[in-house]
Amino acid sequence: MVMWMVAAVIAYLLGSISFSYLMGRMLKGIDIRQHGSGNAGATNTLRVLGKGPAIAVLSLDVLKGIAAVWLPVWLGQEMIWARIICGVAVIVGHNWPVFFGFKGGKGIASTIGVMASLAFLPSLLAGIIAIVTIVITRYVSLGSLLFTAFIPVFILLLDRSMELFWISLLVALFAFVRHRSNIVKLAKGKENKLGAKKKVC
Ligand code: G3P
Repeated sequence: MVMWMVAAVIAYLLGSISFSYLMGRMLKGIDIRQHGSGNAGATNTLRVLGKGPAIAVLSLDVLKGIAAVWLPVWLGQEMIWARIICGVAVIVGHNWPVFFGFKGGKGIASTIGVMASLAFLPSLLAGIIAIVTIVITRYVSLGSLLFTAFIPVFILLLDRSMELFWISLLVALFAFVRHRSNIVKLAKGKENKLGAKKKVC
């Protein structure tokens, strides 16, 4: 019990490392949260800093999610609940980071790492829907929302693990809460499209 609580705290702290914020500071001396969409995530890094930094941020944020889910296993805690709690903790850390005034990202890249580690096939299928959506509409936010919404559906259809179903619903709820402003913009037809750059020189 104590060990997986320690793992959950470490996972939260790991999630709180905002790679997009650090990238903005390192490359341009800026706070990425004051540029583009204001989000500390890979999509806004692409918009503000460009492709290379965005790929680095996306990869590091996905790795954060994977590492958090494996953390309890490395600490000798194999139970699925310990892994699930650490997965939730890393996403909470990413969205509400203790190191950056609790103003973080929207958690999608970390969610990819977490859910792909816990439920690979449902995540892969939801990921295909997300990628097709993004390619067709160029709305990353819409793809991200569909990704999180379809994971519970595919878990029910394929996996039938109720623990994973409930946790994927919670993760989808986080994503929808964090994408509130995107949902409003999507409804008004004013959402940013992929490729519309707001680079800082
Ligand atoms: O993962 C974040 C993405 O869905 C939207 O990002 O910067 O367009 O709000 P952004």
